[in-house]
Amino acid sequence: MRLAVLNLKGGTGKTTSAVFLASGLQADGPTLLVDADPQGSALSWSEAAGGFEFPVVALPVRDLHRRLPQLARGYRHLVIDTPPGDAGIVRSALLAADLALLPIPPSLMDLDRLMPTLELLSEVEPLNPVRVLVLLTRVRRNTRSARAAREALAELGMPVMETEIPLREAYAAAFGLPVEKLHEYEHATRELLGVEVRR
Ligand SMILES: Nc1ncnc2c1ncn2[C@@H]1O[C@H](COP(=O)(O)OP(=O)(O)O)[C@@H](O)[C@H]1O
Ligand SMILES: [Mg+2]
Repeated sequence: MRLAVLNLKGGTGKTTSAVFLASGLQADGPTLLVDADPQGSALSWSEAAGGFEFPVVALPVRDLHRRLPQLARGYRHLVIDTPPGDAGIVRSALLAADLALLPIPPSLMDLDRLMPTLELLSEVEPLNPVRVLVLLTRVRRNTRSARAAREALAELGMPVMETEIPLREAYAAAFGLPVEKLHEYEHATRELLGVEVRR
């Protein structure tokens, strides 16, 4: 699968999701993580961790979709982590992907700031009809926020993954460490692979 992880808002869990999902997908087949964020968080994370079990390359460019086919040769899965601030790069990542994953924390502020991302998705749709899925991240346990977000996203016609990623210290403290097998992202990986099989 060619997975682009995006949300034009910062701090929604893109890099965390990209790294943990790449780790999950690596168990299914050779996976390449492309860090398309000029800030290079995924690459710095892998460097600080002494390398991951999958390669990470930094490619923060607006012609990713032209460069990736050659780079991704031999990999079963490709995960692209994208920046919040550079729509040109995100657009290019969408052109290279078959699945667009939007990590969104279920807060009103995050939902309110979703419009630019949705506009970009509909702009790219005619050029490359990617499948879009929302992943709820940083979900506080025992709150109504996730259900409220699901209702709001359903009204926007956005499909939401069944798996939710809770707000957890293990994720907040994960940067710079080897990727642990934490079950929420394992579950999310299986759900994504199931979606792919059913395509
Ligand atoms: N499920 C989670 N639980 C707790 N903290 C999280 C979780 N996911 C991400 N974080 C933290 O939230 C911040 C933003 O996450 P990050 O993945 O860097 O977002 P983005 O790449 O969208 O900017 C980081 O400090 C990260 O450690
Ligand atoms: Mg990031």
